[in-house]
Amino acid sequence: MEKRSSFTGRIGFVLAAAGSAVGLGNIWRFPYLAARYGGGMFLLTYILLAVTFGFCLLIAEIAIGRKTGKSVICAFASLDRRFSFLGYLAAFIPMIILPYYSVIGGWVTKYAALYVTGGGASASKEGFFSAFTAEPIEPLAWFAIFIGLTAVIVLFGVEKGVERVSCVMMPVLVVLTVGIAVYSLTRKGALDGALYYLRPDFSAFGIETLLAAMGQLFYSMSLAMGIMITYGSYMKKDISIVSSARQIGIFDTGIAFFSGLMIIPAVFSFSGGDAATLNQGPGLMFVTLPRVFEEMPLGHAVGAVFFLLVFLAALTSSISLMETIVSIIRDKFHISRRLACLAVLLLALLLGIPSSLGNGLLDSVRILGLSFLDFFDFISNSVMMPIVALLTCIFVGYVIKTGTLTDEVALNAPFKEKRLFHFVIRYVAPVFIVLILVSSILNTFGVMTL
Ligand code: TRP
Repeated sequence: MEKRSSFTGRIGFVLAAAGSAVGLGNIWRFPYLAARYGGGMFLLTYILLAVTFGFCLLIAEIAIGRKTGKSVICAFASLDRRFSFLGYLAAFIPMIILPYYSVIGGWVTKYAALYVTGGGASASKEGFFSAFTAEPIEPLAWFAIFIGLTAVIVLFGVEKGVERVSCVMMPVLVVLTVGIAVYSLTRKGALDGALYYLRPDFSAFGIETLLAAMGQLFYSMSLAMGIMITYGSYMKKDISIVSSARQIGIFDTGIAFFSGLMIIPAVFSFSGGDAATLNQGPGLMFVTLPRVFEEMPLGHAVGAVFFLLVFLAALTSSISLMETIVSIIRDKFHISRRLACLAVLLLALLLGIPSSLGNGLLDSVRILGLSFLDFFDFISNSVMMPIVALLTCIFVGYVIKTGTLTDEVALNAPFKEKRLFHFVIRYVAPVFIVLILVSSILNTFGVMTL
């Protein structure tokens, strides 16, 4: 049995958890959701959910991990045997996310390579992105490179290296995101975009806004899939859970906020913010940013650094996704690290192919009206993660009772938000999640439109 290692201090823990949290979710996914679901209204909904829900769930997961000292499958089982299924359910989600995450990772790799080799100008041409993703072979190749790289790193287990890379990368990423956002804001017509992004338009509110914001919250903070439980199990007892959770939340939400500010005003500046562009979805970052870089002084160099950083942020996240799956498989089947890596790699390659081909060859194949990539994204973020989050709240609120965890949280520092925690976990969160889930399912099948 390997000895369970632990993070050296609070900074180490916060950085590692933030390294998992900050990734494509913040830079690629958040801006396109905000653009699609009414700008300011989405931002407001997201922030409200983050400071209540996100905060409490993050605390709950870290506390479960630290209390049991186990990773997800065993953690639930050791607190209550009847809930071991929840561990399995949570553990299943990374396997759905990893393949399509790596498809986007492949796109980022392509853009990074393009900018580094001085081909940035072509990326800003009209139709470049759609032509690139519609083509079958090239995106598949980049996807394979990205996930192959992930697998190699997981195989050799250079976690220390990953940690070091994150420490340098994160601050540079923050500076660059803020810098590009400021530049974006000074473009002609960008102010309308800033207003769209910052001023809530209450008429734009709908059940989809809520569902999308909630799904994004889980995704972005790596919640509802057992990751934070695993991280919590590595945390020392003398470190404050509350302030760590707060810092992770602020960091993660901050990067998402600035990514939106970098992309949405630019969309308005280039296209006047027409509905079709705002609704573009997954391609938004890849279409808008190259145009910003084209106009910017030294834009190609900035573009190269930017896409390299996004590439690294995506890579550290995909590494931790794969690492999670590998360790679960190894615990379960007692096989070697190499075999487990190979199995996960092959499975992810296979599952990623439809997502990669979804914009070209398989464009006409739709599930519930969604392309493969959007479908995997929807199933994991908008269906499975809310279910896992709901069951976690019920588990904590009614089965083991919030007191079990608040004692753990209060081990080293007073838990001032104890009542908020109790209230959110027991009442607000479950009712809220059920309402959103039910109405969104009815919505999807057209029984009811809200
Ligand atoms: N939070 C990551 C992001 O924002 C994505 C993600 C979700 C993730 N679950 C994860 C990353 C688990 C690592 C591990 O991009």
